[in-house]
Amino acid sequence: MGKTCLVCVCAVFFLLTLSSSLAAPSSSSSLYDSFLRCLTQQTKSSTPLSNIVFAQINPSFPTVLQNYIRNARYNTSQTQKPLLIVTPLQEFHVQGAVICAKAANVQIKIRSGGHDFEGLSYVSVEPFIVVDMFNLRAITVDTTNQVAVVQAGATLGELYYRIWEKSKVLGFPAGVCPTVGIGGHISGGGYGNMLRKYGLSVDNVIDAQIVDVKGNLLNRKSMGEDLFWAIRGGGGGSFGVIVSFTIKLVPVPAAVTIFRVEKTLETNVTATDLVVQWQQVAPTTDERLFMRLLLQPVSSDVVKGGRTVRATVVALFLGGADEVVSILGKEFPLLGLKKEDCSEVSWIDSVLWWDDDESLKNGGKPETLLNRNVNSASFLKRKSDYVQNAISKQGLTLIFKKMIEVGKIGLVFNPYGGKMGEIPSDATPFPHRKGNLFKMQYSVTWKDPSPGATLNFLNEAKMLYSYMTPFVSKNPRSAYLNYRDLDIGVNDFGKNSFAEGQVYGSKYFNGNFDRLVNVKTKVDPQNFFRNEQSIPVRPSKA
Ligand SMILES: Cc1cc2nc3c(=O)[nH]c(=O)nc-3n(C[C@H](O)[C@H](O)[C@H](O)COP(=O)(O)OP(=O)(O)OC[C@H]3O[C@@H](n4cnc5c(N)ncnc54)[C@H](O)[C@@H]3O)c2cc1C
Ligand SMILES: *[C@@H]1O[C@H](CO)[C@@H](O)[C@H](O)[C@H]1NC(C)=O
Ligand SMILES: *[C@@H]1O[C@H](CO)[C@@H](O)[C@H](O)[C@H]1NC(C)=O
Repeated sequence: MGKTCLVCVCAVFFLLTLSSSLAAPSSSSSLYDSFLRCLTQQTKSSTPLSNIVFAQINPSFPTVLQNYIRNARYNTSQTQKPLLIVTPLQEFHVQGAVICAKAANVQIKIRSGGHDFEGLSYVSVEPFIVVDMFNLRAITVDTTNQVAVVQAGATLGELYYRIWEKSKVLGFPAGVCPTVGIGGHISGGGYGNMLRKYGLSVDNVIDAQIVDVKGNLLNRKSMGEDLFWAIRGGGGGSFGVIVSFTIKLVPVPAAVTIFRVEKTLETNVTATDLVVQWQQVAPTTDERLFMRLLLQPVSSDVVKGGRTVRATVVALFLGGADEVVSILGKEFPLLGLKKEDCSEVSWIDSVLWWDDDESLKNGGKPETLLNRNVNSASFLKRKSDYVQNAISKQGLTLIFKKMIEVGKIGLVFNPYGGKMGEIPSDATPFPHRKGNLFKMQYSVTWKDPSPGATLNFLNEAKMLYSYMTPFVSKNPRSAYLNYRDLDIGVNDFGKNSFAEGQVYGSKYFNGNFDRLVNVKTKVDPQNFFRNEQSIPVRPSKA
């Protein structure tokens, strides 16, 4: 697996595309002319739409491309660049872009917020163009009916802000990073700190608009329940271009409680004992309470030059401080939560704090959620696992020792239970419901741009992942689509496309993979909408 295998996948792939690409223009400038002509014609525009089509020679091209790159690993001179970037301003531009890309026989990648951990929205091994949705970012909030329509190119921060502008007691259950895009996030499931009370983002979607492979703009009624099911967690990029979601807003109290508590292996209550108890409490406690647990190897406070593991509990409680202190005093005494550890804030301030726990102290305002300019450009690797049986104290001791040995990579435990246990595993493509205690994220972020550093940290991720095998779900070893991880399998769209798709598909979707394949085969039999981990078409019985 891994490095060598990915290289061989690319090599095979190139052979395949060479023969079929005779008809496809592979240079940026020849494609530009024909694509622009097609798009202008398709959209019946009176002037050429050169303002929304960027060729590589356009001086703005690097900026447009880089604006929504959120992983520095895919921001190098070696990274494959799209032949064109199309930035639709209207729904019918999206329709035209699909029709013209198909006519030109060139692959499209769809980008909304660009947070894909493996860069799948703007990198490809075959010649491709990017349909970049950042201009389609309108949000309409209807507080009377408690619904909102949000376009794919909007960010979570913008959504939270627009809800807060109109109501202080409504919110939406989605991710905690404000720059994440709606298009990728919601079509991949979407979870955040209200998951135990309200489920995933997809559990609160009531309609959607999608442009299909024929260029039709469809809504729930016209796309039908099968396709509407598939795009709520199956990944949008396999089925079409999602233009908007209609979502149900959820009630939030005027004041919520947030807190953060830390322990190490050197504190009186050790991180090990804390995590043993956390596993009993976090997935079973009051569903208004979400306690994320972060585990990180850090320098020792006691032994000079020594290393320890720090466990941090970061929480949101949809209620008051007295109540959560009382609940946890009984259920989670090892946490030792005191009222002084808690802050009662508005829901929107809790969003700011979850993004950056210094934010409120530094006078952070809800307007920060509208900021799209991310100055930091880090290198990221993420992986995921699901835990169904609590890990013993002995197991945790071994894991902590391993983490110290491996180096930098950390783990994030996100508790399930509550609402997550009540929703059937086939209600949406996202299957990881009842029986899962928590989801684990492997997380390593670095700044050193040298290839050696990248190799080293990718290797750390593989080592820890391998070590965790006995402690996590098996047959299949499950994973979360939005924590995109190419190590678990990739597709080269060749002869074995279906078999390859089954490898990663069964991990992301378990028993729902089969239905996703059926929907895919029905709506996009030629596999026009594809990426390295898209849903494959069922092979025809020849
Ligand atoms: C800093 C950070 C924090 C995160 N926090 C969370 C979190 O709290 N909870 C959580 O659940 N996830 C989280 N994620 C993961 C995130 O949900 C996924 O990366 C998600 O897919 C990002 O959506 P995007 O539109 O920003 O990404 P993109 O890179 O634009 O897209 C991701 C995938 O979706 C496809 N896609 C995008 N837009 C469309 C569209 N309009 N139609 C069809 N397909 C489309 C792309 O082709 C690509 O395959 C986080 C990621 C990062 C980098
Ligand atoms: C990408 O590289 C450019 C310089 O080449 C830099 O300005 C930008 O911040 C980088 N973005 C990311 C996400 O690494
Ligand atoms: C830790 O335990 C020691 C010995 O029992 C005690 O003296 C000390 O006050 C404790 N420290 C804290 C922070 O509770």
